[in-house]
Amino acid sequence: MQKIGREVWIEVNLDAIKRNIQAFQAHIPRKSKIMAVVKANAYGHGSVEVARQALESGATELAVASLEEGIVLRKAKIEAPILVLGLTRLDCVKKAAAWRIDLSGLCADWINQANAILTKEESQHQLGIHVNVDTGMGRLGIRTKEELLEAVEALEKSKYLRWDGVFTHFSTADEPNPDFALFQHDRFIDFLRFLKKKGVTLPTVHMNNTAATIVFPTFSADMIRLGIGLYGLYPSQYVEDLDAVQLEPALSLKARIAFVKQMMTEPRMVSYGATYVAKPDEVIATIPIGYADGYSRALSNKGFMLFRGKRVPIAGRVTMDMTMIRLGEMKARPGEEVVIYGRQQDEAISVEEIAELLNTIHYEVIATISRRVPRFYKRGGKIMKISTPMMYV
Ligand SMILES: Cc1ncc(COP(=O)(O)O)c(C=O)c1O
Repeated sequence: MQKIGREVWIEVNLDAIKRNIQAFQAHIPRKSKIMAVVKANAYGHGSVEVARQALESGATELAVASLEEGIVLRKAKIEAPILVLGLTRLDCVKKAAAWRIDLSGLCADWINQANAILTKEESQHQLGIHVNVDTGMGRLGIRTKEELLEAVEALEKSKYLRWDGVFTHFSTADEPNPDFALFQHDRFIDFLRFLKKKGVTLPTVHMNNTAATIVFPTFSADMIRLGIGLYGLYPSQYVEDLDAVQLEPALSLKARIAFVKQMMTEPRMVSYGATYVAKPDEVIATIPIGYADGYSRALSNKGFMLFRGKRVPIAGRVTMDMTMIRLGEMKARPGEEVVIYGRQQDEAISVEEIAELLNTIHYEVIATISRRVPRFYKRGGKIMKISTPMMYV
């Protein structure tokens, strides 16, 4: 393994990403394509490597949250279609067209203005648009049939825009009660039927996120937008308990002990605020991870890590760059490995249980692992690539 000065890192198992895609391919109709959702640095896993692996494993398109996230992929020579799911400022449409990055179209007015800008600037490229229909998410998109028709007519008239897709997004597909998801589905289908009756030929239709794909595979339409499942995580306990698709988490977060001390002498306080007082003789180890790495300060005196295959509690407050753990009487040595998320021998810490401790969801736990943590990519059990901020120093 490459030497890193501060020994904390993520391992991403690319074989798991491949197997997760294959599991979804087996679950959905053959005609449905897979758009890999690699926004937020691929939910913390590293967008370039995950995008490459997803495309190699059968995904055909990618989704990101911003134009800038898309440009990162293009600069890495990734050629597949890329869609920005969020809102993009009108003065960025020329840039989007030049990078061949598709945008979400949210209303006729935005579409007309985007076309006017590209016309004025004599754009060399057409801009792909996926129209977002808000069937109940209440976040972005078109809410009525009339507005949808207006947007589609604006697209069909515009020389510089290409209508590539129409989509909606479920807000409750991960919950046991299917009523609202079914309502959203029926509303979307009703909108699409309305367009067809008006003589409109539909482009790529997509609605399913991971939860909806697992629960309602027949709603997979022309394409699914696969996020959390790509990374081997279930959107909720309910969806996991359905036992419909077997997934394998791709990410582990690991570190090496930086410093060890036995608290023989007073004072025995640990970390800011002196909120933990060690027992006489207790061994305390310092781990080089803190809240600036995305390891939440709310885990202070609450979280745990794995050492020699056992759970060990956090001592005191998580600081910006370091966290202390209680090793009892275990005589640890600096350099020994600690697992923060993932498996060590017969024990494991899942990001779901960390999320529960933090009163949030696992999406947040992984997406907030900061960029200063190096990403090690593994294939066939071996590290084949390292992506680290140290590459730039
Ligand atoms: C519009 C849209 N589609 C798809 C996804 C992927 O969702 P999931 O990670 O639950 O599969 C997201 C994620 O937030 C999204 O915002």
